[in-house]
Amino acid sequence: MLDRLNEIEKAALESLASITDQAALDAWRIANVGRSSPLMQVFAGFGKLSKEERPVVGAAANRVKAALESALEERTQAVKNAALAKSLEEEKLDVTLPGREVNIGRLHPSNQQLRRVLAILAEMGFQVYTSREVETDEMNFQMLNFPPHHPAREMQDSFYVEAEGREDNPILMRTHTSPGQIRAMREASAINPQNPPPIRIALPGMCYRYEQITARSEIQFNQVEGLAVGEGITFADLKGTLTDFARRMFGQDARVRFRASYFPFTEPSAEVDVECFVCGGKGCQVCKNSGWLEILGCGMVHPNVLQNGGYDPKRYTGFAFGMGPERQLMLRNKINDIRYFWGNDVRFLEQF
Ligand code: PHE
Repeated sequence: MLDRLNEIEKAALESLASITDQAALDAWRIANVGRSSPLMQVFAGFGKLSKEERPVVGAAANRVKAALESALEERTQAVKNAALAKSLEEEKLDVTLPGREVNIGRLHPSNQQLRRVLAILAEMGFQVYTSREVETDEMNFQMLNFPPHHPAREMQDSFYVEAEGREDNPILMRTHTSPGQIRAMREASAINPQNPPPIRIALPGMCYRYEQITARSEIQFNQVEGLAVGEGITFADLKGTLTDFARRMFGQDARVRFRASYFPFTEPSAEVDVECFVCGGKGCQVCKNSGWLEILGCGMVHPNVLQNGGYDPKRYTGFAFGMGPERQLMLRNKINDIRYFWGNDVRFLEQF
């Protein structure tokens, strides 16, 4: 009987040694330690043994059973490890590793500020009107009361687009968003020329000037223009609107002042200053010790401009204003060089 047990053990361990997959392990378990395996037959035949044989054979059978079970355990672990090693080798993708961080993009700081401005104006009832960036001299200047060779053109040196035979009406990159005033008024007045509808719009977008690029001036920059046209609009509406705008943009305590100024297309014209929010009006580097920061130009729409837009200046009045989002950001964040905006340096852009 003991020899029989040794044989069973030897044969079982031999066949186990060559097994490399789980299915074969399962089959081996049934064949070697399962209910009808040769080993279990030995246990089943206990009753036929003599009193003296029983403890000896029993101990031996138990030892073989334990040996087979632990050998099976060991082999199962080895098969699992081999399978894991194989899949690691073949798949080379460890889904348990943390993922690679994705760099999330963001809006350019100018566009962020542009959106802040437009959001405030939208709350105040100004609809966005986008106009073209390539303009005619007529729209950019003449319809806005800058005749050819008028000295006021000095303020806005221009980039001209080459085009033959256009005489006094060359094509240029718009120097400000104001030509959009004419286009918007013409579009609205065409709907009903006898009774043009009132207008309240914001005109955002890029403008271009032939400037020397310095810390303070760039050849391209954004503007947001505002235009309100209707019956009975007064300078009080202009002041109220822009004071409210400044408070919404720079804080409810922001103080503003209106200074007389000049633009050919508004009369009277003004510039708006907001109390320096860096020093609170005491005087500092940012406000050049004046306590005030200039944030926009504005005025009542000139009668000629209303006329050019199809609005009868005897019946309609209006106000307009223009501001620069880059300039506002420079003031707000103490940015001392406008060239950062288009310099494409992520160290700058990342800060917004
Ligand atoms: N277009 C003017 C500029 O670029 C700003 C402005 C707009 C002034 C509207 C008055 C009214 O300087």
